[in-house]
Amino acid sequence: MKPKDQIIKGDAINILKKIDSDFIDLGITSPPYNKGGKHKGWLVKNVKYNIANDNIPEEVYQEQQIKVLDEIFRITKPGGSFFYNHKTRWVRGQMIHPMEWLQKTKWTVRQEIIWDRMIAANIRGWRFWQIDERIYWLYKPINNNKIGEELKSKHALLTSIWRFPPERKNGHPAPFPLLLPIRIIYSVLNNKSGVVLDPYVGSGTTCLAAKLLGSNYIGIDISREYVKDAENRLKNYLNYKRIAEEEISKHIVEKTFADRKKNNGNTGKFRKGVTIQSKLL
Ligand SMILES: C[S@@+](CC[C@H](N)C(=O)[O-])C[C@H]1O[C@@H](n2cnc3c(N)ncnc32)[C@H](O)[C@@H]1O
Repeated sequence: MKPKDQIIKGDAINILKKIDSDFIDLGITSPPYNKGGKHKGWLVKNVKYNIANDNIPEEVYQEQQIKVLDEIFRITKPGGSFFYNHKTRWVRGQMIHPMEWLQKTKWTVRQEIIWDRMIAANIRGWRFWQIDERIYWLYKPINNNKIGEELKSKHALLTSIWRFPPERKNGHPAPFPLLLPIRIIYSVLNNKSGVVLDPYVGSGTTCLAAKLLGSNYIGIDISREYVKDAENRLKNYLNYKRIAEEEISKHIVEKTFADRKKNNGNTGKFRKGVTIQSKLL
């Protein structure tokens, strides 16, 4: 099947298997992190989904994620991308890194982006407070060329560290902020439109971003209630136009590399007291 502009209720892997090969241009998701049963401390509420079990044996979790990611690889067009939001976790002091299972998928890992959420979920001192999550840019090569096309400068200069707080005005237990899929879709598709997928769509944030930017969307979630909420959110998509405009306004080249070089500005070389962030952004 070739669904468009639909939020489908079902198990991600079962629905993905029904979608035609080479159909999707871009995908974005934040899967369940398999952390549900663990107590996080008093600062942030535990994530609890209404249907999904977020506490399964780690090996089973990773196998499921590999299967889902490989199915998404199949349905993505060559040259297409998938952005996978996850985080490093610890089980009894042992670190689990998302690269452990990402390297077992068919995807080329094109970049690891740090999302600085500026707030920690746990402020015990076992480690420095973890305020970051990761976003993996996964790429489906064309003819085995793993490099792919360049981003336009106005997008690339947003750098590999993204700083914005988590979403707070949303009834879903673990939404990401609308800025996140807007940044990805606008950067990767630039002014083109495409078919954008989120297999764990929750409150529909990815689909909302796609619609605001003139793309088609496919969302999947196992919870009927979340699917309904996402559909309602999409009906009122114009209420979110200002957030899209705010993000788009950040994609701008104020000075080209040549301008900066000519005027003795920052060209990426270290100079005392000048940080790349403050000069570029
Ligand atoms: C981290 S949340 C995604 C939130 C989303 N990014 C947003 O902004 O609202 C993960 C979602 O995956 C859904 N989910 C869990 N297991 C699933 C499965 N096997 N198939 C489809 N959806 C699933 C949960 O119901 C939950 O809504």
